[in-house]
Formats: sequence, C-alpha cells, structure tokens
Amino acid sequence: MYNSKIAGIGFYVPENVVTNDDLAEYMDTTDEWIQERTGIKERRFAKKHEESTTSMAVEASKIAIERAGIQKEDIDFIVFATLSPDYYFPGCGVLLQRELGIQKTEIGALDIRNQCSGFIYGLSVADQFIKTGMYKNILLVGAEKHSMGLDFTTEGRGVAVIFGDGAGAVVLQPTDDNDKGVLTTKLHSDGSKAEELALISPGAHGGYFHEDKEEKFGFDVTNTKLGDIFITQKMLDNKFHTPYMNGQAVFKKAVQKFPEVILEALDEVGLKSTDIDLLVPHQANLRISQFVQRMAGLNDEQVFNNIQKYGNTTAASIPIALCEAWEQGKVKEGDLIVLAAFGSGFTWGSALIRW
Ligand code: UT7
Repeated sequence: MYNSKIAGIGFYVPENVVTNDDLAEYMDTTDEWIQERTGIKERRFAKKHEESTTSMAVEASKIAIERAGIQKEDIDFIVFATLSPDYYFPGCGVLLQRELGIQKTEIGALDIRNQCSGFIYGLSVADQFIKTGMYKNILLVGAEKHSMGLDFTTEGRGVAVIFGDGAGAVVLQPTDDNDKGVLTTKLHSDGSKAEELALISPGAHGGYFHEDKEEKFGFDVTNTKLGDIFITQKMLDNKFHTPYMNGQAVFKKAVQKFPEVILEALDEVGLKSTDIDLLVPHQANLRISQFVQRMAGLNDEQVFNNIQKYGNTTAASIPIALCEAWEQGKVKEGDLIVLAAFGSGFTWGSALIRW
C-alpha cells in the first residue's frame, strides 16, 4: 500500500474584488455587520459570461500540474468537488478534462457533491485510489462560482454576503514513505438536517419530502400533467432557486463537529492537537475558525485563515487556503497539516497530512 502525497498545488481567484460596501449598494447591510459576524472584508466574483466554475478550475489545475512537475497528459484520474457546477449534468469533471485538452487520454472523471466538505471527501476518495495503486497522478479540484446563484437583495443578505468565487487544485501521487502524505481521512454526515443549508429547487423531488409542497416549494400539486417541468414560475417568484441557510443551526453544529472530527483523526494516528503545525479549516466564517481554534487549544500560528479576502468559497476554500499558506512558507516539509470542514448535508470531515 502507498500513501498519497500532494505533489503540486495551485489556486485561482477572479480579479474582480467585491467589498462589503459594494454589496451594501444592493442590499441593506454594512461593512461593520459583515466583518463582525463573519470576518469577511471582501470576496472575488467571476466575470459573469467569461468565467465559469470549470474555467477557474482549469487555471488552478495548470498551476498544480506544473508544480507537480508533470504534463497534463500524465493525469490519470480527475476528482471534482463543487456545489455550483456549470451544468445540472454532466458534472464539471468531464468539462475540466475537455478544457485542459486531455480528452484523448479518456481518463475517468468523478464529481463530488459534498458542498463545504467536498474537497475532504474528494481527498479521501482519491487517497484510496492511490493507496491501492490504481492511479498515480490524480487531479483533485474544488471550485465554485457562487456569484451567479445568490439573492443580492435584502431578503438574501444572510447568505449572499458570505460567499465568494474561486478554485483550488492539487495533484496527488503515491509515495513509498508511510510516514508521509495523507495519514488518515474521516468522513461523516447527518442527513436529518439536509434542508437546513440547501438549494432544493429546481430538483426532481416534486415536493416528495415536504407536506407543504405548494406553499413552501412552489409546486402546483392540484393540476399535474405529464410534461410539467420541474421549474415553476412560483419557484422563480419566491426565489426558491437561491440557497436557503439556517445560519444559526449551521453555526452551532459546525463548532461542535469541527473539533470532534479533528480529534477523531488525531486519535487514530496517536497524535495530539499540540502536534499540529497548521490547521487549515474550511473558510466558513472567521468566528467558526476562531471557536474551533479555542476548542482545540491551538495558538494563532497554528491556524490559517484567508476568509477575510475571499469569503466562503465552499469546496474551493481548503485548497485555496492550503495553497496560499504553502506559498507563504507556512507549510514545510515534515509539518503535520490538518484539514477540516463542515457544511451542507450536513457533512463534515477531516484529513491529516504529513507534508
Ligand atoms: O460553509 C457553509 C456553512 N455555512 C456556515 O458555516 C454559516 C454558519 N452561520 C453563520 O456564519 C452565521 O449564522 C451568519 C453569518 C450566516 C449569520 O450571522 P448570525 O449572527 O447568525 O445572524 P442571524 O442570522 O441570527 O441574524 C441576526 C440579525 C437578523 O436581524 P433581526 O432579526 O435580529 O432584526 C438578520 O436579519 O442580522 C440580520 N442580518 C443582517 N444584517 C445586516 C442577516 N444578515 C445580515 C446582513 N447585514 N448581511
């Protein structure tokens, strides 16, 4: 069995900086409120018609591939995590393969739908493929273009101010050194809270899970006929196509599950939180990261945050933060790096990496 190591890492964020004051022109919010509740000062938004989730992933991937010292044709599998795919289907994995220009190699491409935990779920999956020797150069990407899916009116302010666009990518390769690379990954979920942070319509559910199909989800249940489409005017009028988040419920569960899943991973390999060189948490909210830092007894040097500049980029936030930390010299050979995430599903997870 091999361990998988990160051989190359890259990230891309759009040029366009959107400040809290910029958002305040569209909704009733303030820079003060956003900074105090989330720590976010600004975020990046992609060019509406010239950049996509996949195009940002291409940019991040090119950097990761170059830093891994390989050619794009050497990639033998793609894992793509996003909640904001370019198309409903097919997923972004195949689009990335095409846009990188490696369709001739006909490699497999897998899409991961675990939102904020997407990168960790993807890492865990890729790690298993590398461990068994099935693949030697896996391209793992987390990318999001939130800016086209949010409600930028006052009604949507509780969600819209948090999210930003961007992409992060890593190339995973096998190593014979059992003390190096991914030491363990831990994955969890609790589907009973699926709708607490969700974008459920349009979808093929037809209101199946909900008694109040018509009022709450915009389905006309009295007048159905074959050929009814799953997007109704009522859904659009009521903005059911933008995300819903019970922010406080997510916050409460996140601050419980983040430390739990970090300790679970450390316990498994016989390490303690004092052994952590750098925790790179999913950049959900600076207050959540600070809470987790306190709960795990870590000092400021042991935790990396960049949500202030990029907002919450969901599946992209961990690879973007990990790459930026690495570029700043905060991730060094032999360091114990901990990744952890919590979000929609609810899903959560952690990964320990000996760099
Ligand atoms: O990565 C995905 C996982 N997501 C998360 O981890 C998010 C976790 N949750 C959070 O980060 C926080 O719950 C939020 C930042 C989303 C919201 O902060 P909060 O302290 O929980 O605020 P709240 O939703 O309880 O709202 C408090 C007040 C409300 O007004 P009233 O009812 O007290 O008059 C909101 O209407 O703040 C109001 N509010 C805003 N005011 C100004 C909500 N959003 C805004 C806003 N600007 N953007």
